[in-house]
Amino acid sequence: EQYIFLKNLLETPEPIPTTVKGTIPTWIHWSLLRNGPGKFEFGNQHYNHWFDGMALMHRFQIEDGQVTYRRRFLCSDSYTQNSERNRIRVWHFEKDKIFVTLIPLSPIPEPTDNASVNFVKYKSDYYVSTETNYMHRVDPDTLESKQKVDWSKFIAVNGATAHPHFDPDGTAYNMGNSYRNKGAFYNIIRVPPERNGPEDTLEGAKILCSIAPRDKSKPSYYHSFGMSENYVVFIEQPIKMDLFKIVTGRLRGKSLNEGVYWDPNQETIFHLIDKQTGKEMPVKYYTKALSTFHQINAFEQDGFLMLDMCCSDDGQSINNFLIQNLRQSGEALDEVMFFLKLSLSVFCTFEDLHGEDLKDYGGLEFPHINYARYNTKPYRYYYGCVKSACLLNKFVLQVWRQPDLYPSEPVFILSPNAEEEDDGVILSVIITPVKSTFLLVLDAKTFEELGRAEVPVNIPYGFHGVFNSSA
Ligand SMILES: [Fe+2]
Repeated sequence: EQYIFLKNLLETPEPIPTTVKGTIPTWIHWSLLRNGPGKFEFGNQHYNHWFDGMALMHRFQIEDGQVTYRRRFLCSDSYTQNSERNRIRVWHFEKDKIFVTLIPLSPIPEPTDNASVNFVKYKSDYYVSTETNYMHRVDPDTLESKQKVDWSKFIAVNGATAHPHFDPDGTAYNMGNSYRNKGAFYNIIRVPPERNGPEDTLEGAKILCSIAPRDKSKPSYYHSFGMSENYVVFIEQPIKMDLFKIVTGRLRGKSLNEGVYWDPNQETIFHLIDKQTGKEMPVKYYTKALSTFHQINAFEQDGFLMLDMCCSDDGQSINNFLIQNLRQSGEALDEVMFFLKLSLSVFCTFEDLHGEDLKDYGGLEFPHINYARYNTKPYRYYYGCVKSACLLNKFVLQVWRQPDLYPSEPVFILSPNAEEEDDGVILSVIITPVKSTFLLVLDAKTFEELGRAEVPVNIPYGFHGVFNSSA
């Protein structure tokens, strides 16, 4: 908790120098962009939930073995309004009427534009995103907010995940729910890579496929989805959103957690959608109740579809992590997560991707792979964070760990002239209460530390990021 709810963080809109120890390879050019909550207090009020903190964008620029750091708050409407009033804008009951008219459309009547979860790319532009219908286009160099973009102006969805997938040509796939009179639908979204002018944002976005939930008044929550070369894999997990309870709870001033629940008696359903035809495969795959935030990779091989993901058979802990008092989220994150390897054909089976030794570390989150070359392909290595350690690879555990240091999401960067899958480095922002926060650079093959760049200011624990190699 102490690494999340940092108080009185200031922006550093101009880059500040860091102190480099060791050697940061000179072939690493340009910037690591990260996003996460960074401001929880306005006046004497504060947010209690990790996800509610105002988006703070970070940029580590790496050039000639040196590193600078800058950060800015996202100028979202919610940040601007909170700042102007110096108080948190809460549910306003004078808006009851608006709520009522919005009910058939959305279970969350006033979606936030506080996009604090990830940096994502559409048509070679960077956006910060969360799970509502709003994203913000941002300048990846200055971190200035450029434009608020609303998914629902382009296609009939009420939001999209913060974890799109990409084909090699830049075509983006995402998923988002729509809430219509007859209930909710899950939608597969495709955004083309072509850009027809500087103002172009999500033009050309299409809904490839709409899928009816098993119960249209109780769709499943999902944070991301899987994608292989030919299929989108949607995992309908038994973390359920009771739309009626969510809406009426909002009207009664209750928080979202009233309507979101884990139902261990329901099975998990895997849906496969053909990316070319937009058709859902008639065969569904069922397995026991499990909960997942992040998938690692998916690929087709020998007539099977393999899907690797971080998941847990205890959805209650995920549910707590997601919705309930996220002041405890630091602990929830460390709880029982394990891996399944699913072979989907006429049957559905799994195997652990890890040995028993991973359980000693308490499970893993924030998985990353060599996405540029191995997404949708058979691969060997993934990286992630465990309790107080970083980073491991598939089947053979390799760990970087030091006392009181908390690694955030590891990002793999391919080295020039790379031949093998793990030819490159891992970047991770290491949060620590003891010394200064730093950017860690690890050799991805040996897990030896190459260097670190110490930042002279505190950084809160964040969510996700991306390496921007295009200057
Ligand atoms: Fe995520």
